[in-house]
Amino acid sequence: MDQEKRKQGKAIADRLRAEYEAQGTPLLWFDALYREAEGDPDLIPWGHKQARFPLLNWLERQPEHSCTGHALDVGTGLGDNAAVLAKAGYNVTAFDISKTAVDWAEKRFADLPIDWQAADLLNPPKEWTGAFDLVSETFTIQALKDPERTQAFHSLASLVAPKGRLLIVARGRLEDEPLNPPPWPLTPSELDRFETLGFRSILRETFFDQKTPPMRHFLAEFQRG
Ligand SMILES: C[S@@+](CC[C@H](N)C(=O)[O-])C[C@H]1O[C@@H](n2cnc3c(N)ncnc32)[C@H](O)[C@@H]1O
Repeated sequence: MDQEKRKQGKAIADRLRAEYEAQGTPLLWFDALYREAEGDPDLIPWGHKQARFPLLNWLERQPEHSCTGHALDVGTGLGDNAAVLAKAGYNVTAFDISKTAVDWAEKRFADLPIDWQAADLLNPPKEWTGAFDLVSETFTIQALKDPERTQAFHSLASLVAPKGRLLIVARGRLEDEPLNPPPWPLTPSELDRFETLGFRSILRETFFDQKTPPMRHFLAEFQRG
């Protein structure tokens, strides 16, 4: 990975985020960043060209032949998480608010039968309500601030089928840890919100990445009642 380009990508992201926030359109900077990267994943700060480790680790632990049904990959970005879900056996729909990202992901994984869609989590297609056996969210809520963040919790909950599961992988922060955004890591009490939205918690884990200092991550799995 080219560290200079990674720094450049972060600077572009910071500039675009600030510009679009100042214009009152806080979600539009994502597409602007993907467009400005012009197909270079090193310019996307989260473009690691591989699926998230906690998701891979979770998939490895699922009982054989249990990864079936319809999965939704939320905020798919360059599509690596959607690809591992499809390879595990799910029938995958993957979406992102950025059409540029979705087209890019589709090109990267043209060999996989994934339904790629440009859509907004805060206003998803009506037919997605309660339609997914697994809704998988990696690193998207943490990129949002209120009021979009609160809306995202409600919207994620609405997409899960009865008895379906919701998987959240995110940077994590203890309640009293200082905030040093971006991103805006999730706290345990934020994750508890899903229990007020009709879910029961079935797994909650903490991971640390390889950075210096290591960054806390949470994986949380819920089942809809
Ligand atoms: C930090 S990136 C994470 C991408 C990917 N999930 C991963 O783990 O690498 C957040 C992604 O969420 C997308 N996103 C942000 N807000 C969204 C929304 N309201 N609806 C759909 N996607 C959104 C962004 O375009 C971006 O691709």
